[in-house]
Amino acid sequence: MTTEKQTAKDREKNARIRVSENGPYIVSGQIPLFKLIIRTDANGYPLNYVKSEGYPVDETYALCRCGQSRNKPFCDGAHVTAQFDGTEVANRRPYRTRAREIDGPDLILTDVPDLCNHAGFCLRSKGIGKLTRSSDDPEAKRLAIEEAGNCTSGRLVAWEKKSATSSEPAFEPSIAVVEEPHKGCSGPLWVRGNIPIVSSDGQTYEVRNRVALCRCGSSSNKPLCDGSHVVSKFTDGDTSLNR
Ligand code: FES
Repeated sequence: MTTEKQTAKDREKNARIRVSENGPYIVSGQIPLFKLIIRTDANGYPLNYVKSEGYPVDETYALCRCGQSRNKPFCDGAHVTAQFDGTEVANRRPYRTRAREIDGPDLILTDVPDLCNHAGFCLRSKGIGKLTRSSDDPEAKRLAIEEAGNCTSGRLVAWEKKSATSSEPAFEPSIAVVEEPHKGCSGPLWVRGNIPIVSSDGQTYEVRNRVALCRCGSSSNKPLCDGSHVVSKFTDGDTSLNR
């Protein structure tokens, strides 16, 4: 008998995203797909994500990468007429070999700036750098861990200094279609839970718990999001952007 646990395990085993050449992301393994809307605090700083609609998905589905589909977040073939150039240029060296460190009393923060997608979670409460440097204060430490865990791209990771273990949030393999009403635009695809991403040349990117994939087509760091969606005011028509 197939148990729910087995099904989740199978999904994890089969989960994969393939970046097709100048085309969509081909997602396998019936990975759950839903919307997450960024919510801000009273000062306008990103605070957390609120879950919105989920999408029924098949074992395999194709997600728009060029930003031109009329059926977002799914691909409708518009990349062909748009002559989309999806050339992948993102740095493939492992995260830890590229990370700079901010050293605090209780936490170490690792940071790879070129992964930034400019969501802005790290700006609250005077910024994650200051919080890390004050991490002997329990509240500052809690906030630093929370902000790092919300960083869509995984640019920032908080590590317990004593044990050298990362404070990564636990994610089931899933893909979130991010909306950024505080910036008046739609954001990237947030790939969570260590889903392998295979480039169009067949190489697998470093498997990470958090990855932000570009879905507007404008990133200069494809397939990763570099925040260009904010400049181009990319929108998928989500109603949260009108509030
Ligand atoms: S979604 Fe394309 S740059 Fe962010």
